[in-house]
Amino acid sequence: MFHIQNRIVTGFFAVTLLTAATTCVAERVDVIKLRLGAGNVGTGKNKSELCQGCHGETGVSLDDMVPNLAGQYSRYIAKELRDFQSGARTHQIMSALALTINDAELIDIATFFASQKKMQGNGPEGNPVGKKIFLKGDVPRKIPPCETCHGVNGKGRAPNISTFPVIGGQHKGYLRAQLINWRSGERLNSPGNIMSQIAENLTDAEIDALADYLSGL
Ligand code: HEC
Ligand code: HEC
Repeated sequence: MFHIQNRIVTGFFAVTLLTAATTCVAERVDVIKLRLGAGNVGTGKNKSELCQGCHGETGVSLDDMVPNLAGQYSRYIAKELRDFQSGARTHQIMSALALTINDAELIDIATFFASQKKMQGNGPEGNPVGKKIFLKGDVPRKIPPCETCHGVNGKGRAPNISTFPVIGGQHKGYLRAQLINWRSGERLNSPGNIMSQIAENLTDAEIDALADYLSGL
């Protein structure tokens, strides 16, 4: 497991060096293309009416426990839906709903939500504990910096990696619940179990602090 983790992280450092100059400016065309994936925005908008009932018309939900999908990577959205379909990830509502969507619909729906203005918090409350772990991790305790994978302000690891979801500006209650689910083993669908390994080492207070910090970004 650590082998996988190290390999991933080494890859990121190379990416960081290559892209350091571009991470803070407006998204480039190739980055947007990667985020959107191969579907059709207009078709996806129509086909996602059911989803909009909970996730919001533009992918910004009103419920703290329903994740925002606005500006999320389409590939990640599709992967999670397929995980709900296969049972790799389970949730009382989403597992049943996912079964009603076919593959073609899924690609369009994912592209529609990905095309919306990226989720945004109300400004960083600057939770110092959360901020420190996000930027620096706690390496002796085997907690890597979240930013390494989730990108600047948790907005994604552009330009060429869509495996790592946008988490900056996500709802606090949802973030907290997911970190608890990774830690307890209730959610087990991250590649190489990377998130399970990381969350295992987080305390309750750290999970609260991270959710607080990330939701503001
Ligand atoms: C009745 C409300 C409801 C409806 C309708 C609904 N969802 Fe969800 N969705 C949820 C909830 C609640 C979660 C959080 C699941 C969890 O806690 O693991 C979720 C999670 C997700 C996730 C995971 C997001 C992430 O960040 O990991 C995706 C993707 C998703 N839904 C897509 C859809 C799509 C596509 C549709 C339409 C086919 C849809 N949902 C319809 C309530 C809903
Ligand atoms: C080595 C890479 C890596 C690092 C470091 C990392 N993550 Fe993740 N994280 C991932 C991947 C990959 C996923 C997507 C899992 C999946 O496919 O379902 C993920 C998913 C998540 C999710 C679920 C998002 C959602 O919408 O459901 C949360 C929350 C999260 N990470 C928080 C964190 C926090 C907090 C840290 C730092 C303590 C962190 N991550 C560090 C790779 C990483």
